[in-house]
Amino acid sequence: MIRHLYFHIPFCPKLCPYCCFYVETGAKNKTTAFLDALLREVDDASGRFTLRPETIYFGGGTPSALTGEQLEYLLGGLRARLDLSALREWTFEVNPATVRAEKARLLKNAGVTRISLGVQSWDDALLKTLGRVHDAAQAEETFATLRAAGFENINIDLMFAVPGQTLAQWQATLAKTIALQPEHVSSYCLTYEEDTAYFRQLQLGTFRQDDDRDADLFEMTMDILPSAGFEQYEISNYARPGRESVHNFAYWRGADYLGFGPSAFSTVGLRRWQALPDTAEYTRRMLAGESVGHFVEELSPATREGEIAAFAVRTRDGIAAADLARWPDAVQEFRELGFLENRGDRLLLTRRGKLMADTVAEAFV
Ligand SMILES: C[S@@+](CC[C@H](N)C(=O)[O-])C[C@H]1O[C@@H](n2cnc3c(N)ncnc32)[C@H](O)[C@@H]1O
Ligand code: SF4
Repeated sequence: MIRHLYFHIPFCPKLCPYCCFYVETGAKNKTTAFLDALLREVDDASGRFTLRPETIYFGGGTPSALTGEQLEYLLGGLRARLDLSALREWTFEVNPATVRAEKARLLKNAGVTRISLGVQSWDDALLKTLGRVHDAAQAEETFATLRAAGFENINIDLMFAVPGQTLAQWQATLAKTIALQPEHVSSYCLTYEEDTAYFRQLQLGTFRQDDDRDADLFEMTMDILPSAGFEQYEISNYARPGRESVHNFAYWRGADYLGFGPSAFSTVGLRRWQALPDTAEYTRRMLAGESVGHFVEELSPATREGEIAAFAVRTRDGIAAADLARWPDAVQEFRELGFLENRGDRLLLTRRGKLMADTVAEAFV
């Protein structure tokens, strides 16, 4: 039984210079044929698995870059195919430049329950640095539009450690976010991903990393958001009580999930596979009844355990000490360094450990 579905919609108004997701910016492949391919992939999966989604997540890319008509077609097609009686959360990622009242209402009527709004910053200068297509005013307007359409569960995505970002700018962005009263905030530390314009600028020395400043920005987040009622339930995720993302939690505890669309990953048991990261070819093959497989791997039980440990340790509840028994040396070292501490029979990151979360998590994979 598969309870978690992800849909990758690979279209964006413009490529952000830090982004490494599989996306395309033209409208060439943003066609009904592509939507039919997605629906066909769902039909195929229904033949192989029992699908009873508790969570659906539309990400990308920018799913809200589809037109209203396309969304109606796709979401209507899904509703006709899927048993949604167990659905608890249906998230839709929205870029602020791509949604106005009509589309917001359409999403709400289609059954979407949660919006993840890619704001990144409330500072216009930093939004320029990030190459975003929207400014702060437009993001605020979109937030209001989504609320007016009836969305009661909205996440705001933010990014810190942006080139040139000051503590004052970040403080103002957090304050503005809190003032809008979203239910959830994801606060990501900018990663310089290979094959991005940002990575090249880092190599050229146009951008410099400042680890001390980034640690200060992260600590500021861990102070300010919880004092406004958001609990840090994972290193980068803060939620009001009861508003944690059900879909993300499913990933973190190692639940099976199916991904649909070009470049999407699926993991069922110990098998992981990825669809071709090429929209035109994905569409052609899917509609011709050919395989869209790009890569498949059979994980060892030890690898999968390590992955799940790496996720778990980054969460509020940490991990049962017994589940880290395979890594006694690493656990002892992290304890001595003051990165991990025992609470009952569980191991949790300390505040210092949270600053080193990637290093700790990497020790288990
Ligand atoms: C797949 S994007 C989807 C949202 C939507 N496309 C948008 O950008 O508005 C999800 C989030 O990942 C974060 N993100 C993307 N690239 C990142 C990077 N290189 N480092 C840190 N966070 C990143 C951004 O906060 C973004 O909102
Ligand atoms: S950050 Fe979002 S809008 Fe920008 S290219 Fe990546 S997926 Fe598209």
